[in-house]
Order: sequence, then structure tokens, then C-alpha cells
Amino acid sequence: MIEPFIDLGVHHKPQGLSDRVALGFTKVLRWTADTFFAERYGHRAVVLETVAAVPGMVGATINHLACLRRMVDDKGWIKTLMDEAENERMHLMTFIEISKPTGFERAVIIGVQWVFYLFFFALYLVSSKTAHRVVGYFEEEAVISYTHYLAELDEGRSPNVPAPAIAKRYWALPDGATLRDVILVVRADEAHHRDVNHGFANQIGGLPETSVAPCPPHVPLEPIWKQAA
Ligand SMILES: [Fe+2]
Ligand SMILES: [Fe+2]
Repeated sequence: MIEPFIDLGVHHKPQGLSDRVALGFTKVLRWTADTFFAERYGHRAVVLETVAAVPGMVGATINHLACLRRMVDDKGWIKTLMDEAENERMHLMTFIEISKPTGFERAVIIGVQWVFYLFFFALYLVSSKTAHRVVGYFEEEAVISYTHYLAELDEGRSPNVPAPAIAKRYWALPDGATLRDVILVVRADEAHHRDVNHGFANQIGGLPETSVAPCPPHVPLEPIWKQAA
């Protein structure tokens, strides 16, 4: 598989109080995650992806409602944010095949979702710029974490198991694809979200546009209501 090229070193230098709050909040959460999970990257991925899939849907909802009220075009923001939420949910569905969360982790996920959803919703209403900056910084950290996960595999501390079938279908990976290939495309997704969200924050703050890492190709998810019924 050809490794998706991404710029690992992208970091938005905080400009102003809003950015500093966003970065400080991200660093506190990073420290909490490092303390809680240490080197358990599979478990870390499962729990954090349940959080990562929240902001896109919150942003999409609030932009959708704002566009209805103001009767204006969304300039593509709503679909972009919904795609981000869906993509993050597919990360979760993939990593659940690699690591099963413990009962305690499931309880943490439920509690964290309540708090984070309400917090992020309120933050987005108060300052959508700070909210997108927070996600941009979260994604910078996600790129770093998946780089550590790759080193874990490469140095033989975790087995490089075959890629789960759901990941092979979603990213159209070759037959012999492994967990390493999956982490490479997931990390490229995170880099894409990083740049999109920093870009949204820049746009709201009137800052110049920056380049966006391409999203690795994946198949569109089609509704399967008939099968589900
Ligand atoms: Fe993710
Ligand atoms: Fe992410």
C-alpha cells in the first residue's frame, strides 16, 4: 500500500486568548488521556474516537439551525462537518475490532459523552471559532498519538494483526492489509480534520487560508434500512 503523505509537523501557533484557551484545554485533556491509557493505544483509540465523533455533528447541527434561521447558504460547512463525524465513527467501528473496551471504559465513555457533548455544544454557541480551534488542536494530538501507535507496531511491542474487514471495505484496502495500513489512513484522516478545523477557525477569525491535507479516499456509506429492518 502506498503510504498517504501528510505533514506531521503542522501546528497552529496560538494567536489571542481564544487560541490559547483552546490549546490549554487540549493539553489538559492530552495529559489526562496519557495518564489514563499510558501505552494502551488500542484502548485509547476506541475511547477517544467516541469523543472525536461528537464535534462534527454538533457543528453541523448548529450551522444547520443557523442557516435555517438566517435563510442563508451554508457554503458547504454542514456536509463537511457531518462527513467528519461519520469518518470518526468509522474509526471507532474499526478500532472496536482491534480492542474491546473494558466495562470501566464503557462507563467512562457514557459519562464523558454527556459532559463533552453539552460542553462542546455550549462552547460552539459561545464561540464557534474557539470550538473549531479546539478540534484543530485535538487533531494535532491525534496525529501524534497515531504516530506513537505506528512506532509501537514497528518496534514489535504490539502485534501488526490483519486489518479488520470493515476497514478494508471502507478505505478499499488491499487483501493483505494490516493494522499498520489502517493506522496510516486513520492518521491521514486526522490530519485532514486538523487542517479543515483550523481552516474554519481561521475563516471565522479573518485569518489567511492554510493548506488542507487530502482526505484518504473511502467508500460512501449507503443507507441499508431494508437490511436493518
Ligand atoms: Fe479519529
Ligand atoms: Fe479526529
